[in-house]
Amino acid sequence: MRLSRRRDPLWTPIELRRSSILDRSSPLFGLSAQAKAQLIAKLSLAYSVRPEERSARRSNPEESSTFSPRLDVSELDGFREIRMIREAADFLGIADPFFRVHEGIAGAETLIGSKTYVNFASYNYIGLNGHPHIADAAKGAIDRYGTTVSASRPVSGERPIHRELEQMLARIHGCEDCVTLVGGHSTNVTVIGHLLGRNDVIVHDALIHNSIVQGATLSGARRVPFPHLDHRAADRLLGELRPRHGRALLVIEGHYSMDGDVPDLPGFIAVARRHRTWLMVDEAHALGVLGPRGFGTADRFEVDPSEVDIWMGTLSKSLVSCGGYIAGRRDLIDYLKLAAPGFVFSVGMAPAAAAAALAAIELLEREPERVRRLNDRAGLFLQLARQGGLDVGGSIGASIVPVITGSSIRAGRLAQAMFERGVNVQPILYPAVPERAARLRFFLTAAHTEEQIRDTVRILMEENRRVEDTPSDLAGVVRHLRKLAPSPGRSQVR
Ligand SMILES: Cc1ncc(COP(=O)(O)O)c(C=O)c1O
Repeated sequence: MRLSRRRDPLWTPIELRRSSILDRSSPLFGLSAQAKAQLIAKLSLAYSVRPEERSARRSNPEESSTFSPRLDVSELDGFREIRMIREAADFLGIADPFFRVHEGIAGAETLIGSKTYVNFASYNYIGLNGHPHIADAAKGAIDRYGTTVSASRPVSGERPIHRELEQMLARIHGCEDCVTLVGGHSTNVTVIGHLLGRNDVIVHDALIHNSIVQGATLSGARRVPFPHLDHRAADRLLGELRPRHGRALLVIEGHYSMDGDVPDLPGFIAVARRHRTWLMVDEAHALGVLGPRGFGTADRFEVDPSEVDIWMGTLSKSLVSCGGYIAGRRDLIDYLKLAAPGFVFSVGMAPAAAAAALAAIELLEREPERVRRLNDRAGLFLQLARQGGLDVGGSIGASIVPVITGSSIRAGRLAQAMFERGVNVQPILYPAVPERAARLRFFLTAAHTEEQIRDTVRILMEENRRVEDTPSDLAGVVRHLRKLAPSPGRSQVR
């Protein structure tokens, strides 16, 4: 089933996909848009006055006429929506699946509450987290340089390890140069925010990561999404918009993190060239995953990497570290190193993080069988899930396989049932995705065994049937939420 998925704003503990503008028109938990809007309005009354302010008002009648309550975070639409989702989940007996504490290295297995779970909730794609070569490299860097470089690199934060890492990244991306920054998300924000401006246009995949949307918003450029993966639509949009704007940026991901599908890179390159537009590819989930060597999207499509103007990546997934980078032409990298605020005015990468990423790339090059094993395992998961009639969307089975349940309640219940049977997998709920696209998202790693995968899919199918047969008391949810948000004038429950 291909859903036309519009990533909605707001909040998910896994990834914040877009900016937090509450979309009141979209349904939630099967409530109509109107019922949802009414509940949010009522909850705003319930939560916007603090209890001490309420009693101050009551005890001082004179003050009550002039009383002006403090500005409170509970007045945010997003806050109220989160509250509503939590209350509804509580009512339905769905435990909060977020912020689980992992007590050791999270790989194919993980320890939570002293119990071992088969784990599908880590980006440790090629099983490198905790590898002794990487741990030793990180410790060695701390011994040599300390735990911080304490200043921005132009000022006094440059260490040899930064350049070594950048040269290595440039080489595997087939680029002239590279610059690393302290975070993947902030890399997109600062680079896009700085390269584009008010007279420019940014055209991006509708399911693009939140960091790109944030960068586009910061830039002040006009931002226009095109339907997921559709380079013809991008072509049409640029045909219309390009002549009216100064510079243009076309942004895609090499491997989409919610769906595990991939763009037609040559198709997008042709569009970018036709419209004299920069092409940017976010490789967060492609590095270590795609291509025979795991070098990412260019490796997979065997295209000349210089056809892409801006390669972006993160060090936090396959490379088991922390940070972001841009690889491309030397001019671009020189410019960013002197001008991008998130580089110039922010500390350089911590030595241990740079050393860990560098050691991880060494292992990626030395042990390409890790990538093959990852792809085999993910391919097996995809094939078994499909055979079992589960909706896996457009995943190519490289490392990410969604199982779309079609409702947040089902996804929450299914994730909970899996957890109770020893499998840790995260549900992705509205508003991270539209309600009908709610899902469980499985991240495979090279360290998963075939047995773990076969067992997991078998359990998944059993529990999915059970969840599908469990009715949801939506009327009860609505009654419960209304009770928490009484009409104005009546006493407040909280
Ligand atoms: C496509 C994409 N880009 C950027 C990022 C941000 O990377 P980081 O988490 O390393 O900051 C993520 C994070 O998951 C991502 O999925």
